[in-house]
Amino acid sequence: MSSKLIAPSLLAADFANLQRDIEMINQSEADWFHIDIMDGVFVPNISFGMPVLQAITKHTKKIVDVHLMIVDPDRYIKTFADLGSNILTVHYEACPHLHRTLQAIKAEGMKAGVSLNPHTSVSLLEDTICDIDLVLIMSVNPGFGGQSFIENTYDKVKQLKELITRKGASTTIEIDGGVTTANAKALADAGADVLVAGSFVFKSDTPIDTIKELKAVANS
Ligand code: DX5
Ligand code: ZN
Repeated sequence: MSSKLIAPSLLAADFANLQRDIEMINQSEADWFHIDIMDGVFVPNISFGMPVLQAITKHTKKIVDVHLMIVDPDRYIKTFADLGSNILTVHYEACPHLHRTLQAIKAEGMKAGVSLNPHTSVSLLEDTICDIDLVLIMSVNPGFGGQSFIENTYDKVKQLKELITRKGASTTIEIDGGVTTANAKALADAGADVLVAGSFVFKSDTPIDTIKELKAVANS
């Protein structure tokens, strides 16, 4: 079994000390940087945009995993590629032409991800799963950090794993929202490959140790 990865979400970082928090992740056992872009339309919150992402990717030494919680993401695919995104994830609910969007992301040299809100069924990916590099299952309603994990997520991860296996796809499964050491092992056992963690990492007094612990639990 390949090892489970940890992607700290910078949404919970100290924005007045972003470089310090990025260096912490660079030095930790974390695998990816998870970066949440919110537009105040698709989700009821606004995070940060291009100039901040540009400043962030000057310092990141690991995979940059960008989670777009925005309407009409097609407009910005090239921009996010130019800003140093390695993985670009769009929301299923924001893409009326999902297959075209996935092709456009790959054409810019990025891995293409699709995120599902808690109410969106895994079965809707039946016809696109072989074209998707990563599925990001939301285990909270997107828009805010620090929310409680939705227990139905375990079933969705299992359904997604089954779909990927049945279709012979090689899609990565990532989970986002309310991830802690209390649910990391069960998520990994259900089939998750990558765990995003925001508040659990950044609210810790010793975030480097917390990342290490999360990774150890996910791989136990
Ligand atoms: C929520 C974001 C998450 C968020 C997770 O809409 O997509 O990435 O930062 O934060 P926690 O881990 O605090 O739930
Ligand atoms: Zn996210």
